[in-house]
Amino acid sequence: MYICICKGITDKQLEEAQLTSKSFNEICKKLGLGSECGACVKEAIQKTMTTKSQKDTNNRKPNQTA
Ligand code: FES
Repeated sequence: MYICICKGITDKQLEEAQLTSKSFNEICKKLGLGSECGACVKEAIQKTMTTKSQKDTNNRKPNQTA
């Protein structure tokens, strides 16, 4: 699914960039995300936060609570 129509960036590309980036700004710079109309930024932030939250949950030890 396309996240950014202007740059042709897909959700898979976003996920791959998340693995090698330390911040959302770094992801944007690498991919060019939001560099045209900016309409994709809100959805990309939500997707990045969801992925990070899922990763944090998966890395949590069994006896840890939220
Ligand atoms: S949709 Fe991403 S910059 Fe326009």
